[in-house]
Amino acid sequence: MADSTRFLLAGVMGWPVMHSRSPLMHNYWFGKLGLAGAYVPLAIEPAGLAAALRALAPLGFAGCNLTIPHKQQAMTIVDEVDEVAERIGAISCVVVRRDGSLYGTNNDWRGFIDNLKQEQPGWRADAGPVAVIGAGGGSRAVCYGLLQEGAEEIRLVNRTTAHAEAIADEFAGPISVLPWVSRHEALEGAALVVNTTSCGMVGQPALDLRLDRLPQRALAADIIYIPLETPFLAAARERGHHTVNGLGMLLHQGRPAWKLWFGLEPEVTAELRERMERSIAGQ
Ligand code: ATR
Repeated sequence: MADSTRFLLAGVMGWPVMHSRSPLMHNYWFGKLGLAGAYVPLAIEPAGLAAALRALAPLGFAGCNLTIPHKQQAMTIVDEVDEVAERIGAISCVVVRRDGSLYGTNNDWRGFIDNLKQEQPGWRADAGPVAVIGAGGGSRAVCYGLLQEGAEEIRLVNRTTAHAEAIADEFAGPISVLPWVSRHEALEGAALVVNTTSCGMVGQPALDLRLDRLPQRALAADIIYIPLETPFLAAARERGHHTVNGLGMLLHQGRPAWKLWFGLEPEVTAELRERMERSIAGQ
């Protein structure tokens, strides 16, 4: 539980890190809850990650988030990696325990699922087949979350089929891998399609995916949040689909982090979303 007599500290380690919108979000929560605290961007070179993580405890940090490129390397540094992070293969959140030891977990999957639930009340993972495009770190978190929520059929498609097969083998759930050439057909009868590739991100080519097989009622989600609306989401919106962007995933993975660091669960409010959207749009 947050101790009102202490200055609460957390941050995000990345390289580079100054583009991160996490400080805006967490500092909004400190203000909203009237708590004395700060969430800081920490630019840490990969070679300095171990020293930086070990410095969290003496500096009085409750913990930190990790972003590119530290999510995998941190697994070899922290004292305990929980089962979720182990399965996803990456740590997104580090917690400094009472004895100063470091515990690593992954809240990205929670962010993805909780955001879908907030954006589409009544959403269920078992409402129909889910097409997941991409098989990188983001895909692993999304697939893990969908399986946790009881998805009955995940159609996984990736440019490099072997990467998708590795996820299907490791997760051992109802995941079927389709070749990249079949990606358009993978949307046939789907209730949800998720882009987890880097396609559509600022500076990257758009995702090459035809939506003509996607049923009208299907939901389209992207885990990218810069830009807020990727060409894939824009095309889905124009076809009349409900769309969900990646910003909510970022917002919602912050809540379980706060629970672990400070014993609190701040709200993802419309005001917070607007502030983040304004910041991203203005960049
Ligand atoms: P992250 O951890 O953010 O998911 P990543 O691990 O680098 O990032 O994964 C990027 C994903 O985008 C992968 O699925 C990648 O496909 P490959 O496994 O074949 O590399 C996918 N990707 C990147 N550029 C792509 C492109 N031009 N077309 C299709 N898929 C692409």
